[in-house]
Amino acid sequence: MMIKLKTAIPGPKSRKLMERRAKAVARGPFHATPIFLARAKGAVVEDVDSNEFLDFAAGIGVVNVGHAADAVVKAVAEAAERCLHAGFNVTPYEGYVELAEGLCEVVPGDLPKKALLVNSGAEAVENAVKLARVFTGRQAVVCFDHGFHGRTYMAMTLTSKVKPYKLGFGPFCPEVFRAPFPYAYRWPGTPQAAQGVLHTARHRARG
Ligand SMILES: Cc1ncc(COP(=O)(O)O)c(C=O)c1O
Repeated sequence: MMIKLKTAIPGPKSRKLMERRAKAVARGPFHATPIFLARAKGAVVEDVDSNEFLDFAAGIGVVNVGHAADAVVKAVAEAAERCLHAGFNVTPYEGYVELAEGLCEVVPGDLPKKALLVNSGAEAVENAVKLARVFTGRQAVVCFDHGFHGRTYMAMTLTSKVKPYKLGFGPFCPEVFRAPFPYAYRWPGTPQAAQGVLHTARHRARG
């Protein structure tokens, strides 16, 4: 398992795809790397120019058993063959229940638990806020400076960084209060603190 570079980075095929991307895809999604992926296995990512890299991102921590793990590919193929999409709220199916049972088992705590499967982190955050409001009967939500919670309206309101996530998108959701995070890297007195203070001031000015 090693890095194999065959072209300049990004290679010619990646550069061409980036031109097509610029024309056809909205500017919203940014790219941490300028290479286009062709395939990936385990921790190795191969780009469209046949360069191979070691992947330290794993789909931002999502593919945590490695890319295209044989057992995962087999399970996905079998599930797709049985039924590609049903809608649990139309016809429930065992796989949903089985995954919920597994999640409840691994979540710590000796207490009754239930799981809800949703499409994204933002949707999970939105639903967590809804449940907390109903359960507590209270509306206010406290979030922290420097946090990222997603791009939907409540999740975006909770998100700290203004650019690129919030600039010009207000008004935001009410009853959200931001607290400083006990983050030693930006504690007062460190060189990074000035940057943090600047960021917070900008954030407060822009809502
Ligand atoms: C801590 C945290 N919360 C929420 C989200 C939002 O997830 P999604 O992009 O799937 O909506 C992310 C995504 O990176 C995240 O890191």
